[in-house]
Formats: sequence, structure tokens, C-alpha cells
Amino acid sequence: MSKFFLTTPIYYINDKPHIGHAYPTIAADVLARWHRQNGDDVLFTTGTDENSQKTVESAEKAGKDPAAYTGEMAETWRKTWNMTGVSFDRFIRTTEPDHKAAVYELIKRAEKSGDISAGEYQGLYCIGCEEFKRESELADGKCPLHNRAPEKRNEKNYFFKLSKYQDQLLAHIEQHPDFIRPASRRNEILAFIKGGLEDISVSRQHGKWGIDWPGDKEQKVYVWFDALANYLTVAGFPKPGFEKWWPADVHIVGKDITKFHCVYWPAMLMSAGLPLPASVYGHGFFTIDGQKISKSLGNAIDPIELAGNYGIDALRYYLLREIPFGGDGEFSRERFKSVYEADLANELGNAVQRVASMVNKYLSGTFGDLPPGAHDTGAVREAMDNLRPDLALAEIWEHVKGVNQYIEYEKPWALAKTDPGHLLQVLQQAVGDLIHVAKLIMPFMPATAERILQTFADGQVNTGVGILFPKFEEAAGGR
Ligand code: ME8
Ligand code: MG
Repeated sequence: MSKFFLTTPIYYINDKPHIGHAYPTIAADVLARWHRQNGDDVLFTTGTDENSQKTVESAEKAGKDPAAYTGEMAETWRKTWNMTGVSFDRFIRTTEPDHKAAVYELIKRAEKSGDISAGEYQGLYCIGCEEFKRESELADGKCPLHNRAPEKRNEKNYFFKLSKYQDQLLAHIEQHPDFIRPASRRNEILAFIKGGLEDISVSRQHGKWGIDWPGDKEQKVYVWFDALANYLTVAGFPKPGFEKWWPADVHIVGKDITKFHCVYWPAMLMSAGLPLPASVYGHGFFTIDGQKISKSLGNAIDPIELAGNYGIDALRYYLLREIPFGGDGEFSRERFKSVYEADLANELGNAVQRVASMVNKYLSGTFGDLPPGAHDTGAVREAMDNLRPDLALAEIWEHVKGVNQYIEYEKPWALAKTDPGHLLQVLQQAVGDLIHVAKLIMPFMPATAERILQTFADGQVNTGVGILFPKFEEAAGGR
């Protein structure tokens, strides 16, 4: 047994969760469940990034004070993950007291390393990104990610000596091929670092909300410096014993924030004398029915709403199967429906239903003790180790298809007339394969896996479980 510590981004709370946020969170959940199932001691964390200026803007719009607003929004996010089966061990809010202690210790260590200095900053600040922008990063004077013009700011700030770590960072990335995955992200980051690192401002002047800079009430800690530190907070830093978990095994993040995780974060850790995470995985982005997900387009849809009658397990399957993890993709309602019908209803649902009904029909519901079966899970393991849940599911579905093909080949309905001994063997084999499939899909579709195991428990078919994946018309009627 080894420890496995993985994280999702902590999300801004200026809005409700949408399907784009559900994606990395569900992917991380699958990985966490997979490692638990394989006997690892897992710490899996997610949470909310609350000290952003966007929090203040959104609270004002909602007519609430930021403390009340953050409390309500954090509950909305937590509830969404509970309802989507996300088995986090801790939900961290960056307004919690233990987080402030971690941030202060990090700053203290950076100061001790001589990496913090006061200075003047002049620049263009995008509140959407919570970042100063270079002119070259703008399109028509606007931030292309947020379609808004950045503010001109001239402030007194504290600076972090990022430039000092340029060579050390390059060496680390070159010596650890898995530090940044997939390879496309790694190349982007290498190019960015080779372009030259500038020192970054790590405080904000006159902020109304956030963590006070230690010893200077005029300044707040820069929200990204604060947010990244969450990964240490959840490990227990700086209390003794945090080394049980730290360094993290995988940070799962979107490609929009890999720079923060692969440049700023490792430099902050180096400055603090702490080991670096083993791996940062920058997944891709997806559109929904061909459009960028955004509040103004009205397609920032709640994942639970999107799952609709198909159910959360179907959504989890579709998201992870359809989009190669690491690449960009598209959420299409049409595809969701056809994947549901083809892979879930017609392949998996059908295999379970026909095997159960044949055991009922030919064996009076009893299949008895199953002979031990040999199942090779090497390919699934390899896919999971490479953070490719899409490939793991493709491999598992080969097993699912195999059950249906086996039934068609052996024709139990014919064996019932000619060879009852072989019939028993065939149905036992099929039940054993389905139990094996249930265990393999457990991390991906935990409720479905449980229902399959309940269908074939204690040597008997349990008819009370019902149809796994009703056809859409039936499903639309509600269940
Ligand atoms: O950046 N497709 O939070 P955030 C896929 N608070 N993934 C998407 C997506 C899409 N269309 N839209 C969002 C922040 N995501 C910071 C993080 S971490 C220390 C601080 C996912 O609320 C993706 O993982 O803007 C992206 O990186 C994340 O949501 C950004 O969430
Ligand atoms: Mg964002």
C-alpha cells in the first residue's frame, strides 16, 4: 500500500459549477476511487478559491456581504460534488483559518530565502484571470479569455523572485518527464520558461477582501499565491506530519492554469525548501454543442441538470469516455444520447439483463458458486497510470462486448435443450465476467457497479434491482 494524494483545481465562486468544472472533478474522483480500490491510502481534495476580487464583485451584484456570499456559494459547490458522486476527503475553502497559517508559513520561508522584496508595479490587470497581462497577450486591447479590457494599475507590491528559479525549473522539468503531462503541455511550459521568467507581484494594494499580507495591512496576498498554497494546507502544512502526504502525486488542472501550476507553484516550493509534486496534468477544454461555455451564452449548465434522466453515472461515463483526457473536446447532447443508448443501454445494460434473465429462466435464478476466473487488468491499469480514463473505459468495454459475443456464440437457449452441464458453465462464466466488469467500472460508475453486484449476489439473481439503463423515452418519463 502506498499513499496517493491528488487534487482538483479549487474553483472561483463567482458563479455556480458548470459542466467544465465537473470534468476535472469527476476525472480526479475516478482516479481517487481507482487508487482506493487498489489498496492505496488516498487523500483527494477539492474546494473553493474564495479570496479573489471576483468574489467581491459577485457578492456586490448579489447584494450580499462577501462572507455570507462565500458561505452560500461554497455550499452550492460542495453539494454539486456530493450529488455527482465526488468522493473528496476534504473540501477546502481558502477562507478557513488553517489555510491562512499555511500561506503565512510559505511567505515566511520565501522571505527567509531572500525571495520577497517591495517594489512598484505598473501594468494591465485582468480581474477575470487575476493576473497582470503583457500587451502581447491582449487582442484589441482586451483579454481574449475574458473579453474584457484589463485595468491599468500602478501599485506598491511585494515581489517574488521568480527569475531566480528559471534554471532550476528547467532542469527539474527536463529530468522528470512526468512532471508535466501530457507532452504538449510540457512543451508549452518549457517554451514559456525559456522565453525568460520575470519576477511576479505577490500582493495587491488596497484590496478589500482576502488574506492580509503578514505585517502590512495595506496589502493582501495575491490570490494565486494564496490559492496554490491550498495543496499544502490540505496536507496539514505546516504542522508536523504533513510529509505523510506531501508532495502531491497529481495535481489535475485545466490547460488554462498549467502555467500557474508548472512555473509559479514549483518556484514557490523551491523557495520554501519543499519537494515538488510528482506530476501536474493539464487536461483539455471542451465546448458544449459547438460553443464555448460561458455565462453570457447561457450554456453554463449545471452538471446535474445536464445528466437529466440519464443519471449521474451516464454523465460520468460520457465525459470520461468521449474526450481523450488531455485533448480538447465537445460536449454534445446528441452524442450523449447516442453513447447512452449504444454503450450503456445496448451493451452493458443488455449484457446484465440477458444474463440475469437466462439464469432465471434456465437455472431457476441460481448460478451457485462461481469458479475462480482469470482476468487480466493490465491494460486498464496502464491506462489509469497514464491518466487516460478514456482508454481505460475503451478497454473495459472490450470486456463488456466480450460478454455479449460469448452469449451469442454459446447460445444458452440451445444448450438448455442439448447440454445442461455446459449451460451451467456458460452462464457461470458470463456472471463471473459481469462481476469482473462491475469491479472495473466501480471507480467510473459507482452506483451502476453496485447495482450489477446486487443483481448477482450470493449465487443468485436478485430481480429487484431493475433495468440499469432504461431507454430514453422511458427515462424521460422520470425514474
Ligand atoms: O482558475 N472545459 O478556477 P476556475 C474543461 N481558482 N474544463 C474547464 C472548462 C471547460 N470548458 N471550464 C473550466 C481557477 N474548466 C482558479 C484555480 S487552483 C489553485 C486555482 C475547469 O473556477 C478547468 O479544470 O476558473 C480549469 O482549469 C478550471 O475549471 C478553472 O476553474
Ligand atoms: Mg477560469
